[in-house]
Formats: sequence, C-alpha cells, structure tokens
Amino acid sequence: MKQPVRVAVTGAAGQIGYALLFRIASGAMLGDDQPVILQLLDITPALDALQGVKMELDDCAFPLLADVICSDDPNVAFKDADYALLVGARPRGPGMERKDLLEANAAIFSVQGKAIDQNASKNIKVLVVGNPANTNALITQRNAPSISPRNFTAMTRLDHNRAMTQIAQKTGKTVNDVTNMTIWGNHSATQYPDLFNAKVSGEAASDLVDQDWLENEFIPVVQQRGAAIIKARGASSAASAANAAIDHMRSWALGTDGDNWVSMGVYSDGSYDIPEGLIYSFPCRCKDGEWEIVQGVSVSDFSRGKMDATAAELSEERDGVKHLLP
Ligand code: NAD
Ligand code: LMR
Repeated sequence: MKQPVRVAVTGAAGQIGYALLFRIASGAMLGDDQPVILQLLDITPALDALQGVKMELDDCAFPLLADVICSDDPNVAFKDADYALLVGARPRGPGMERKDLLEANAAIFSVQGKAIDQNASKNIKVLVVGNPANTNALITQRNAPSISPRNFTAMTRLDHNRAMTQIAQKTGKTVNDVTNMTIWGNHSATQYPDLFNAKVSGEAASDLVDQDWLENEFIPVVQQRGAAIIKARGASSAASAANAAIDHMRSWALGTDGDNWVSMGVYSDGSYDIPEGLIYSFPCRCKDGEWEIVQGVSVSDFSRGKMDATAAELSEERDGVKHLLP
C-alpha cells in the first residue's frame, strides 16, 4: 500500500463538499491504491455541520481513508497538503454573473494563497472551484510565490463535460465517442467551447452539425448551463461540479489517455497569444503529474475572436483585483 497523501478541501461543509468528499475517500480521485488524509476547512459557524460530515465519512469505513482533520484555520488545513481543492466561496444566485462574486470571494483566496505558501508541500496541486474560479486561482497563485505557478489551476472541466454531452446527444452518440473537446478561456459566459477540434467517433464534430446550431444553440447552452441549473434547482450545480473536480484532479495526477486531451484553467505561458500569466482554460495533456498545453490546435478567425474575447474578460477581472495581487 502507498503512503497516504494529504488532500485539503475548503468549503467542506457546503453542497459541493458533500458530493465530493465521499468520492475522494473512496479512491475515485487518486486511484484505488492511494490512501488519503482529508484536511477539511470551513468557517467557524459551519464547524458543527463539518463534524457531521466527518461522522458520516467515519461511518463509511472507507479502506483508503487514513484520517480526517477538521478546522477553521487555513494553516491547519493546508499543513503539508499534497492536493488542495478550493471550493469554499459564496455561490451566485439567480440573475448574477460569476464575476459579481469577485468582491465577495476574492479576499478568501488571498488569505488561502498565503496559507498554502507557508504550510503546504511545495509540490501541491491546487484546483480552484469557487467562483469566479479563474481569477480566484490567479489570486491564490500570486499570494503563494514560493510555489510554481504551474501548480495552480482553475476548473473548466464541468464546462468540458457539459459540451461533450451536448454534442453526443445532438449526434445520437454517447460521450464515449467524443474526444478532443476544448473549453477556451474563462469559466464564465464568455468561455468558448470549441467544436472545430472536437471529434465524434473520429470525425470532426463541426462537420456533423450545422453552423446555426453550433453558434446559436451549442455555444450559448454550454456558456449558460450554470445559470440554467441555478434557475431550475434554486441552487448552483453541486454533484456535477464535484464530479468535474474529481475528473480534473484524476487527469492531472494519473494522466490523460493517448491523443485525447482535457480542458484545464492553467497559467498561460503565452501559447495561442493568450496574455502570459492569466489563468486561462486550454486543451491540456497530463503525464507523470504534469500538465502541458497542447500545441498546434487549429484556430479559425471565428475561434480567434471568441478566444480573445474571453481573454479580455480575464484581463479585466485581473485588473479589478490588482490590490490582491502582490
Ligand atoms: P455552498 O454555499 O453550499 O458551500 C460553500 C461553503 O464554503 C460553505 O460551507 C461556507 O461556509 C464555506 N466557506 C465560505 N467562506 C469560506 C472560507 N473563507 N474558508 C473556508 N470555507 C468557506 O456553495 P457550493 O454550492 O458548495 O459552491 C461553492 C463554490 O463553488 C461557489 O463559489 C460556486 O459558485 C462554485 N462553483 C464552481 C463551479 C465551477 O465549475 N468552477 C461549479 C459549481 C460551483
Ligand atoms: C456552474 O457552472 O454551474 C457554476 O459555476 C455555478 C454557477 O454560478 O454557474
């Protein structure tokens, strides 16, 4: 049996936390030979609820769950952490855009970035889920200068999974037939889900649908899916978000398959002329615990315009939180 790894989860008493922790503890994220120690963070008023979650984790008798630590202190929760899933943040309500949360949530991530810098493993892999995820990831990264910027990522895997299902349903196939999907940019209504490079049973997805559906249904449905769920459920997506977080970390830690790739919000190195330093969603392949941006993906004029628009929004969000970026 391997040595246990430490997985910090913030907002652990919340809705996503409840859908996430049991799957991490069962081995779904890091594999069924990898024991885990869960280090759970929430705010002081949520500690009773968090204790209840811990009791339920105990009651599952998961063979891979080596320990559960609950705290309202980020220095405790991030101590020696090998992985961190930063979920704790306010969700949006009906009528709000995700960037409306910047003011409410940004401060959380500067505090947590510092705590990660001071306490976590220097090899920690961080996934930011709390919205606006890309800019919160940027704030976290910039407040943790002793750790490589490559170790801070934002979640666009939910958008990626949503896009896979939309194209599978439209073409009468299953998600198993869909590969090479890309979400470019921000986890927001400006994100660009790209069907020109995606494949369905090896054929270009864009050849299987008409341009009107692609532009006026597929793209807006994926961009607005979070809002549609809030409207229908009266609360933001939780189980599908937790599932995407598991998928993201699993791909990063255990690798992607062959020529296929996944979408990850990662530190831009200037690839595809996206401004360096933004946390932008690119097509990524992962191997040996490292991601790389897939190069040479084709970019039409149509795609270019959309990729630039979502980059411009991220630059604007970054400028709005300058005071939190050391
Ligand atoms: P929730 O309100 O159910 O839970 C949030 C939890 O975070 C609560 O338990 C709260 O007490 C805790 N929290 C608040 N401030 C904290 C802090 N400083 N430190 C630690 N914990 C803190 O919300 P949820 O539905 O679980 O959603 C959490 C976040 O995830 C929201 O911002 C939501 O918009 C976002 N989200 C992102 C995606 C994505 O695809 N990136 C998908 C779904 C939801
Ligand atoms: C989602 O995409 O479901 C989440 O980001 C929640 C939201 O605010 O849309």
